Amino acid sequence: MAQLGVNIDHVATVRQARLASEPDPVWAAALAELGGADGITVHLREDRRHIQDRDVRVLRETVTVKLNLEMASDPQIVALACQLRPDQVTLVPERRAEVTTEGGLDLVASRAAVGRTIDRLQDCEIGVSLFLDPDPRQIELAAELGVAAVELHTGQYALARGEAQQQQLHKLATAGQQVLAAKMLLHAGHGLNYQNVVPVATIHGMGELNIGHSIVARSMMVGFQQAVREMKQLVT
Ligand code: PXP
Repeated sequence: MAQLGVNIDHVATVRQARLASEPDPVWAAALAELGGADGITVHLREDRRHIQDRDVRVLRETVTVKLNLEMASDPQIVALACQLRPDQVTLVPERRAEVTTEGGLDLVASRAAVGRTIDRLQDCEIGVSLFLDPDPRQIELAAELGVAAVELHTGQYALARGEAQQQQLHKLATAGQQVLAAKMLLHAGHGLNYQNVVPVATIHGMGELNIGHSIVARSMMVGFQQAVREMKQLVT
């Protein structure tokens, strides 16, 4: 069975909407652990729109399961990663204007730069995973770069419907076999939810799924009623 990495970025998004101290992603991480999370994932973006440096520092101290830091090849963030040493770094592409990560890294275009970041992180003894589209050429290059893991981008699968979704699933499964054959660990994530996760979780050799949006969205739906009830008791 796959391990579950819970992405808590959206908790920080709500906090940053008010530049307040709640909700605290550190608290959410502890609750995720109580819920059975095998890992906690945070994306420290260059624009710091949700997770802050402080969050990663405190999470490094408090998370007792695997801490996975998603980041782009930004020298300042690479330096922070080397200082804090998360259990894993997942390198992702980042564009300032994007709402969320829109696709995998393009190793054909950025092999040298990504290679330098990988070397730096590996020198700091951090295991590196690369976020890639299920594209044979990208996976081949990842194997040449000597990374520990590949996280397959499941965004296209999540968006597709019917036969097109089956084709995307086939693509993921084929790419997954290529990852395993190259002796890398197989991870996947993006857009996975309570309806579409099972076929991806059961791909042969799937080691880790990183899921954020759907879990945070569901937590609001299952927790909102109680939050209102507690406030109602205070005001009436
Ligand atoms: N994996 C990676 C590399 C991501 O960038 C993200 C989004 O931050 C996720 C997984 C989680 O995606 P979602 O929030 O859609 O579950």
